[in-house]
Amino acid sequence: MSLLFSPLAVRNVTFKNRLWVAPMCQYSAEDGVVNDWHHVHLSQFASGGAGLIVTEAAAVVPEGRISPRDAGIWNDTQRDAWATITESIHARGSLAGIQLAHAGRKASTWWPFSGQSGSVSEVEGGWETLGPSPIAYEGFHAPREMTAAQIIATVEAFRLAARRSITAGFDVIELHAAHGYLLHEFLSPLSNTRTDAWGGSLENQARLLLDLVRAVRDEIGPKVPLFVRFSATDAAPGGLTTDDVATVARWTIEAGADLSDVSTAGLVAHQKITVGPGYQVAHAARVREVSAALTAAVGIITSGPQAEGILQAGDADAIFAGREFLRDPHFALRAASELGEDPETIWPPQYIRAYRSVPR
Ligand code: FNR
Repeated sequence: MSLLFSPLAVRNVTFKNRLWVAPMCQYSAEDGVVNDWHHVHLSQFASGGAGLIVTEAAAVVPEGRISPRDAGIWNDTQRDAWATITESIHARGSLAGIQLAHAGRKASTWWPFSGQSGSVSEVEGGWETLGPSPIAYEGFHAPREMTAAQIIATVEAFRLAARRSITAGFDVIELHAAHGYLLHEFLSPLSNTRTDAWGGSLENQARLLLDLVRAVRDEIGPKVPLFVRFSATDAAPGGLTTDDVATVARWTIEAGADLSDVSTAGLVAHQKITVGPGYQVAHAARVREVSAALTAAVGIITSGPQAEGILQAGDADAIFAGREFLRDPHFALRAASELGEDPETIWPPQYIRAYRSVPR
């Protein structure tokens, strides 16, 4: 059996394989409530054999949305809409994770297919953004520097979102600390110039994230896996390095997280990254080494053999794929075939005739 299709146990949850759907915003919610689009979109990956499906970034407060069309989990209407989706994913034999997020200074922006770009003004339905310091992301409105009370309230918002997520039936919680959104903004000296308890040293920059990990762990109890998505480098002068982030990842594990999901960049527009097959795997390997804990790799991983090679090399424990699942929602079934797994044990019984007989 391949490593990719070996089960992975994390706390009380066993993933049937290690090929997982990465969080991907659909910018299709209304008032943060997911709908039929999200239902079919996420369920199809379960029919397609993915071991875990992590939802798009779900905002924990309205001002934490990247765009007005983002999904949320700050109220019970949103929670109940998610519950129909977790039920559908479970019925198709997969597990569901939710990515809890706050977009910080990158909130209130136009969504990719809106025909516009940059910040949405308040008259157009946008809102004032918040960040660790009043430093704008290039081309966006500058955020208001968060007060201590607002930071503490953010921890509480994540805790309540985690509570709703568990009630909605999610098996895994992921905290979004990557891609230049609020938690990443606190971590990086390029966006955090605070001189109080939340700035000035890596320990202080990580305080919000670590408080969040502890609060969410306290809320969800000892059985539920908690993941943290990181950008392992800012890929810009003076920004976070992979070793900085690996150190923070180790601290999150000590604070109660179980797995680091390793992406890169997104903090500043002048970043320099070279994108190609498996371009973030070396970062995952370094985080895995320093944190001595479960790590997932992501980024242009598009075939079973490529994913298997990353696991066999000991660079990661699981693989997230994003765009390959959009191109082929049955990517996991295809990867299983590529690795010589028995389709009878992996394909949904409803689909197995695609294997047993050739259509005329
Ligand atoms: C993303 N990505 C992303 N990441 C994240 O942490 N939260 C999110 O909500 C989103 N949203 C999103 C939407 C869409 C349409 C895409 C294509 C990507 C990044 C994604 O999870 C993944 O890390 C990257 O796409 C790289 O992996 P792939 O696509 O090369 O497998």
